[in-house]
Parts: sequence; structure tokens; C-alpha cells
Amino acid sequence: MRTVRTIAEVRAAVADGRTAGRSIGLVPTMGALHDGHLSLIHRARADAGLVVVSLFVNPTQFAAHEDLGAYPRSEERDAELASDAGADILFAPTVAEVYPHGFATTIHVAGITEVLDGKHRGAAHFDGVATVVAKLFGIVAPDAAYFGQKDAQQVLVIRRLVRDLDIPVRIVACPIVREPDGLAMSSRNVYLDPASRRQATALNRALDAAQATVTGPDTGATIVLAAAHSVLTEAGIDPEYLELRSPDDLTELDTIGDGALLAVAAHVGQARLIDNRILEAP
Ligand code: PAJ
Repeated sequence: MRTVRTIAEVRAAVADGRTAGRSIGLVPTMGALHDGHLSLIHRARADAGLVVVSLFVNPTQFAAHEDLGAYPRSEERDAELASDAGADILFAPTVAEVYPHGFATTIHVAGITEVLDGKHRGAAHFDGVATVVAKLFGIVAPDAAYFGQKDAQQVLVIRRLVRDLDIPVRIVACPIVREPDGLAMSSRNVYLDPASRRQATALNRALDAAQATVTGPDTGATIVLAAAHSVLTEAGIDPEYLELRSPDDLTELDTIGDGALLAVAAHVGQARLIDNRILEAP
């Protein structure tokens, strides 16, 4: 695996791959890689001829009060992990390479960004995500790009973006990878002290409890949400949001119907955690 820092270098590497007849897979990350990220790289390795992993802690998707400065950074270790998982190119640009002086364009995906994380982190968050991902698609021009279902709303935003801007890339959503006790893997889990780490398992348990109430498509949101809430409350967690929404367009749902996204966000200790589950009738 080769680490490159400039747009020119990654474009040249991709062009070489294309000339050799290889398809291009892109895995965008902010580093501090864990098994969740690595599952995306493995998936890309299985599909694509040339696997590009990007590592860029994107400042524009962090609000002023968020953890940009504290965000875990471990490029040397990330390079080893990405290489072992099958990456060919690690694209790790500087902020100035991505946002040169005079940078003036923002991509705003309307509608689905106004709820859940978009509402609670502020609209600028998904503007930052959409803008940087559109740039990565412009730079790498991948055939396929791999995202985790852990960030379910992010996947929908990216799907909308590529549809609306006619970007010819296949978006592949990969399942949530969890710790043995069910906690969804996240770079932010390093912020958890041992007590908060135990408390954090309640998020996944709340999703389990919600699924257990589903007896059919008519099961109502009230009963599902109450079951999840009670697990969180028992663990001393007051969620920032806990909502049942359409997995396709994030409209609010009254019943499970033919599948519903249950999404939760909560501050646990020093970390803000998110998790979700697509609930289905048995
Ligand atoms: P980051 O949080 O580093 O995540 C990179 C990718 O890994 C995302 O697609 C995310 O959904 C996926 N991921 C994280 N934890 C996962 C888990 N436990 N199981 C499966 N996949 C997981 O998401 C971002 O970075 C940024 O917003 C980015 C898309 C790179 C744009 O800056």
C-alpha cells in the first residue's frame, strides 16, 4: 500500500489502475480505524481491483463546540491496518489540499438532513459531509464507494447526493460492526471511561428491546419507543433523540410497516454516541 497526500498523486494512481483494467473502490474515513472501518475495506477488496481508502478528519463537518481538536488521530497505525485489510492507496491529504484558499462551494442536501443528526448537530454537519464526499468522488471517480449503516442517515444523504448530481458511483452500505457486548464500534468509543463504557451497552440493548416488541407490521411506534426508552432510562441515559422513521426517506412512522429505522443518539460520559436498527416484523 502507498500513502499519497495530493490530489494529483491519487488521480495518477487511479489512472494507472484504470489503464490496467481495474475497477476502483473508495472507502472514505476520518481515520482512528477500527473493525467497522476495516469491514468496509474488506468489502471493497472483495469487489474492486484498486482499493482507495481516504483518511481525512474533515473540519467542515464538525460544529464549533464539537470534538475536532480532540478527534483521535493515529495515521501510522491506520496505514498498517488499512494495508492489512487490503487497501492499495491511502489518500491522506492536508486540510489545505482539500480546502485551498478561496474555497467557496457547499453542497446542501435538503429534507433528509433536517431531522435526527441534522437537527441535533446542526445543518452544517451534513453540508460538510456532502461537500467532502462529493469532492472525494470528483477526485477518485470510484466505481463504487463503501459506507457503514452505523451512520444510516449519512448513507441516505450520500445516495440522494449522487442521484441528484448524477455522479456515476455505486453506493454500498455495509452492516454495523459491534463489540462482543453489542456496543457499535466507533472512533469516539475511546472517550468512554470504564463506567461509561458499560453504560453505553444500553444503546444496543434498547434496540434489542424495541425489536422484541414487534409482532407484526401493525406494531405501533409508541410501544416500540417505550421499550427502548425504558432500557435507556434504567441505564441512566437520557437520549438526545430516539425516533422511528422510514429507512428510505426518514419520514416519521406510526407503525413498523414493512421495515422501520429506529435511530438513537445519546451523550454517554464524554462521548456522543449513535446507533440504529432496521426493525422488521417477524
Ligand atoms: P468515519 O466516522 O471515520 O466513518 C467512516 C465509515 O466507517 C463510515 O461510512 C461509517 O459509517 C463507517 N463505520 C463507522 N463505524 C462503523 C461500524 N461500527 N460498523 C460499520 N461501519 C462503520 O463517516 C465518516 O467517517 C465521515 O463522515 C466521512 C464519510 C469519511 C466524511 O468525512
